[in-house]
Amino acid sequence: MKLGLIGYPIAHSLSPWIHNQLLDRHEMTGAYQLYECETDRFANKVEEIKAENINGFNVTVPYKEQVLPYLDELDEAARFLGAVNTVKVVNGRLIGYNTDGIGYVASLVDRYADAVDRSKRVLILGSGGAARGIFHAIVKQGVGKIDLANRTIEKAQKLIDDFAAHSVSEALSLQEAEDNLAQYDLIIQTTSVGMAPNQEQTPISLSGITKDTIVSDIVYRPMKTDFLKEAEEKGARLHYGHGMLLHQAIYAFQIWTGKSTDASVMMEAFEHKLKGV
Ligand code: ATR
Repeated sequence: MKLGLIGYPIAHSLSPWIHNQLLDRHEMTGAYQLYECETDRFANKVEEIKAENINGFNVTVPYKEQVLPYLDELDEAARFLGAVNTVKVVNGRLIGYNTDGIGYVASLVDRYADAVDRSKRVLILGSGGAARGIFHAIVKQGVGKIDLANRTIEKAQKLIDDFAAHSVSEALSLQEAEDNLAQYDLIIQTTSVGMAPNQEQTPISLSGITKDTIVSDIVYRPMKTDFLKEAEEKGARLHYGHGMLLHQAIYAFQIWTGKSTDASVMMEAFEHKLKGV
């Protein structure tokens, strides 16, 4: 299997570690390589990767949207999201997928089996690419109420409007969300706030949450953000961001190879790796 990742910068990516582990676990030969490239070389790089007869590759920042014109086909999630994180090469044809949203839901359900059933009321903080993927995947789970809060409220409204069928969703300011936290069962933090090196910041205060709320943060560096620390002090149930990273990779690997993997068998080693970098 010839696999890889295209993006910039990617030198510190954990994807090679995850995919090389997956190759080993499934006793497959091959390698997962980094194809780091700056914007002006992106088109050449895609051609280069294709010419190498690669089986599949991941796409990350800043190319998840930019890769679309090079693809021959898109799956439903990638089409809706307008963004691709996984490409499978079949007889020279490039097929685009997006496993971020389903990876997120899988990591959440792994930890809390009841997290996204129909009765749940969900709040997503942020309205960027990550929020979009998660919103899409949670709508697919049949969750009844999903509100979006964002610094730029118009972007939250735009995302809701793109899901015309999901009319019960509301767009909120971060302040409005903070003032009404008790009504949510699950709060998902998708903004870049709290990410190293600005790890002392949080997007909203959690003083209004109730005890059984699940608080989820997709930031994984640091693993326990200040947002999650505050949630823990309030007695909330915590969900960490690194699980999404592992699960989106497992889905990508499955798309390329047909092999499925139980994430729990890799989680301990992955956490160890994450702490060491
Ligand atoms: P990603 O693909 O990781 O979602 P993105 O598309 O750039 O990245 O989205 C970043 C999100 O973090 C947005 O919701 C952004 O809010 P705006 O839409 O108002 O820009 C949010 N964000 C980034 N910095 C923030 C800050 N300092 N305070 C609040 N929200 C912030």
